[in-house]
Amino acid sequence: MASSLSPASAAQRYDDSLRLSVAPMMDWTDRHCRVFHRLLAPSARLYTEMVHANAVMHGDRERLLGFDPTEQPLALQLGGSEPELLAQAARIAGEWGYVEVNLNCGCPSDRVQAGRFGACLMREPSLVAECVAAMSEATTIPVTVKCRLGVDEDNDYDVFADFVDQVVRAGSRMVVVHARNAWLKGLSPKENREIPPLRYDWAYRLKQERPQLPVVLNGGIAEVEAAQAHLTHVDGVMLGRAAYHDPYVLHRLDAALTGTAPRPRGELLLALRPYVEAQLEKGLALKHITRHILGLFLGQPGGRAFRQILSEGAHRPGADWSLVAEALAVTEAQGRRVAA
Ligand SMILES: Cc1cc2nc3c(=O)[nH]c(=O)nc-3n(C[C@H](O)[C@H](O)[C@H](O)COP(=O)(O)O)c2cc1C
Repeated sequence: MASSLSPASAAQRYDDSLRLSVAPMMDWTDRHCRVFHRLLAPSARLYTEMVHANAVMHGDRERLLGFDPTEQPLALQLGGSEPELLAQAARIAGEWGYVEVNLNCGCPSDRVQAGRFGACLMREPSLVAECVAAMSEATTIPVTVKCRLGVDEDNDYDVFADFVDQVVRAGSRMVVVHARNAWLKGLSPKENREIPPLRYDWAYRLKQERPQLPVVLNGGIAEVEAAQAHLTHVDGVMLGRAAYHDPYVLHRLDAALTGTAPRPRGELLLALRPYVEAQLEKGLALKHITRHILGLFLGQPGGRAFRQILSEGAHRPGADWSLVAEALAVTEAQGRRVAA
């Protein structure tokens, strides 16, 4: 489970990974997805899907918390609002080898609101501070918070900054700011990622006024150039949907930030083969991995064929790497025809 790196180089890799991260996304950033993202973005910090603290305590830990060592640096995102329970879950996160534990203060779903966690916690800074303090006491790994700017009609920068100050005083070592409000009534979670307007300037100002505080900006970042521009104002950028739907953007950004040459898509795909074959060997169905790689050739000649071959074929019993090889061959042949 734990990374094979020495503690000093693991710590350095963790610090360096502040610049680029992939957002926690329920149903999407599972362990297979994260192994793929790691290949694309060797320098990035990866996040799990949100796991409720209760599930950590009572659920199937191998299924919920298990990961491949290559995923490091990897953060566990927790949901919850009970300090004692979160503290226990944070301790377990450290024991499982996660290098950060992050508290979700941004999810607006009805289910999450009913459980009194996620975005509605933006209105309860002292409770969040209590949670962060309890978590920080229970583990030596960094505790961090992912939040919004506010909820519903909140429109006061000072209220947002006060929320951040309270959680930082309680021990949060960094904040990820999804730079829009969450509207708790009337919008679905999907609409809540699109409709409330983005206000990057609040995150910029937060950083400017608190130079010591690491600030990571999230929300609507989909281009390498845009990410680089944000990085002149904040310490890090976190990509969610763009990284998932157009994973090559993640690769190009990682390459730009580390000064390395981007690798061709096909080469990145082939690098996934040992992992895929090992998982198939253990009995996993191919579709559980290929669903995360459908966008690799997005916008490229043959990109549609790649998606189609994989999404149709991976459901068939016995589907194996030869399907991926076929999808790649067809896609590359189409690419060559266009180039000729
Ligand atoms: C399918 C999906 C699931 C998500 N699940 C979570 C989650 O578990 N925890 C969380 O903090 N945010 C979650 N989010 C929000 C993202 O982390 C991110 O804040 C949001 O998508 C905005 O970033 P983007 O514009 O780069 O996608 C989810 C987003 C999507 C699209």
